[in-house]
Amino acid sequence: MSSMMRFVLPALAAASTAYAASCSVSATTTLQNSGDATALASCKTFSGSITIATGTTDPIDLSGIQKIDGDLVIKNNSGIQQISSTSLTEIAGVFNLDTVQVLNQVNFPKLATVESLKWNALPNLQNLNFDNQITKASVIDIQNTQLQTLKGINVATIDTLYIANNRYIGDIAMQLGNVTKSLTLEANNPEVNVTFSNLIWAFNMTFRNCSSISIPSLESLNGSMGFYGNVITGFNAPNLTKVGGALAFVSNTELTNISLPLLTEVSANLQIANNTKLQKVDGLPALKTIGGALDFNGNMSEIAIPSLNDVKGAFNLQSTGNVQDTCDNFFKPLKSKGKIQGKFVCVGSVAKPGGEGSTPSVTGTGAGAKKTGAASSLNAPGGAAVGLMGLAAALFL
Ligand SMILES: *[C@@H]1O[C@H](CO)[C@@H](O)[C@H](O)[C@H]1NC(C)=O
Ligand SMILES: *[C@@H]1O[C@H](CO)[C@@H](O)[C@H](O)[C@H]1NC(C)=O
Ligand SMILES: *[C@@H]1O[C@H](CO)[C@@H](O)[C@H](O)[C@H]1NC(C)=O
Ligand SMILES: *[C@@H]1O[C@H](CO)[C@@H](O)[C@H](O)[C@H]1NC(C)=O
Ligand SMILES: *[C@@H]1O[C@H](CO)[C@@H](O)[C@H](O)[C@H]1NC(C)=O
Ligand SMILES: *[C@@H]1O[C@H](CO)[C@@H](O)[C@H](O)[C@H]1NC(C)=O
Ligand SMILES: *[C@@H]1O[C@H](CO)[C@@H](O)[C@H](O)[C@H]1NC(C)=O
Ligand SMILES: *[C@@H]1O[C@H](CO)[C@@H](O)[C@H](O)[C@H]1NC(C)=O
Ligand SMILES: *[C@@H]1O[C@H](CO)[C@@H](O)[C@H](O)[C@H]1NC(C)=O
Ligand SMILES: *[C@@H]1O[C@H](CO)[C@@H](O)[C@H](O)[C@H]1NC(C)=O
Repeated sequence: MSSMMRFVLPALAAASTAYAASCSVSATTTLQNSGDATALASCKTFSGSITIATGTTDPIDLSGIQKIDGDLVIKNNSGIQQISSTSLTEIAGVFNLDTVQVLNQVNFPKLATVESLKWNALPNLQNLNFDNQITKASVIDIQNTQLQTLKGINVATIDTLYIANNRYIGDIAMQLGNVTKSLTLEANNPEVNVTFSNLIWAFNMTFRNCSSISIPSLESLNGSMGFYGNVITGFNAPNLTKVGGALAFVSNTELTNISLPLLTEVSANLQIANNTKLQKVDGLPALKTIGGALDFNGNMSEIAIPSLNDVKGAFNLQSTGNVQDTCDNFFKPLKSKGKIQGKFVCVGSVAKPGGEGSTPSVTGTGAGAKKTGAASSLNAPGGAAVGLMGLAAALFL
């Protein structure tokens, strides 16, 4: 240490004591400009919340502060481009950035802990500089940004993770081990690849518009899990044993393979619908119990759920494919033995397979045509005339 520094440091210490009062505010300190920010540099811990004024255009540098005991907020500001701190490690409240039009730099290389990070409408924010990584947070909610990546956010456990409408985020990966409330990913980059290698359990999870989803260690959901409008080709959870709520695969246009070899129970509905290319549902070998309805519709031609022996709700299986043998030889007997408790519909060769509660409209070519009287006349011996009359009758029904 130089002799000059030896002289300066005590002077700074004295200055910080003089500032001690301003390090603790009962409510919120509003910063107007860069000078207001540097005036807080001597506060190691700032007790209270900090808000950047709507009209602020200066870069805001909060270096010096290590911990903010409250929130750090910028809302509805169209002038500020940069916020940073080389020393801040923790925000005990909410780190809230909402509608900050030209903000393009968020540099907090030491930040590791936030209670909540809530960001929305940051149309110029492409990168974040969290070199040390945020490893602890209860809530991460990021919407409508231009972020390319979430590198820098790497939490081990979280209550709520919500990442939506960030059109450039192309990969989402973190060490996440469990999710106590919910994880929702929606309308990010259509090619987003999602990887949670360590995720063992979650309460609820919803995936929309993802390109690949890898959760190889998943063992259970307390609640529900749904996949909607993804372009995944497969979903595979080799260790998943129980879904405590509903499980849904809907409108995943490229999905060809669902593999859940250890899944024994879905406590609410199991829905597999409108997955255009899904022809085989044969990856549920251990599934015994469905606490709600089984609701399948699509283009499946092969369906095997060999261990199934308890469906507490309705059963609806409608497919364009010929699944009538499976209906007649496997599912109908379960229904007659009382192992399927609700309303039962099981038909193959349906023109427009519908969801639970809909009436199947049969094409008339498959075995399923036996299902309705009018349509069955198409197959009746006696020739084309009868068939056409039958068809006319069917059309006017
Ligand atoms: C946003 O700030 C502008 C002025 O900068 C103000 O006129 C407007 O009312 C604010 N909007 C909201 C929602 O606070
Ligand atoms: C996601 O992974 C696929 C396959 O590896 C790759 O082609 C694609 O570019 C990745 N998406 C992004 C946004 O990087
Ligand atoms: C949640 O995940 C974290 C990180 O993997 C782990 O340390 C913790 O034990 C898990 N908690 C529970 C209750 O499973
Ligand atoms: C899980 O999802 C269900 C159904 O949407 C909802 O009722 C429940 O409140 C959610 N639980 C949590 C902890 O988010
Ligand atoms: C699945 O569980 C087994 C037994 O607990 C474990 O050895 C294996 O590593 C798990 N697989 C994955 C992909 O986590
Ligand atoms: C959710 O399931 C996990 C793993 O089985 C368990 O540790 C946790 O206590 C459950 N949470 C609730 C709220 O039931
Ligand atoms: C995202 O998926 C939903 C289905 O959940 C779909 O309606 C929507 O069109 C998709 N959005 C994009 C941008 O692909
Ligand atoms: C479906 O995925 C599982 C797990 O990745 C794999 O073992 C199986 O061979 C796949 N089935 C088909 C038909 O690709
Ligand atoms: C499946 O697609 C049909 C036709 O587009 C639509 O009417 C129906 O609501 C969809 N079902 C689900 C569960 O999204
Ligand atoms: C069945 O496949 C056709 C042709 O690919 C597609 O147009 C239709 O939407 C699919 N139906 C369902 C219910 O997935």
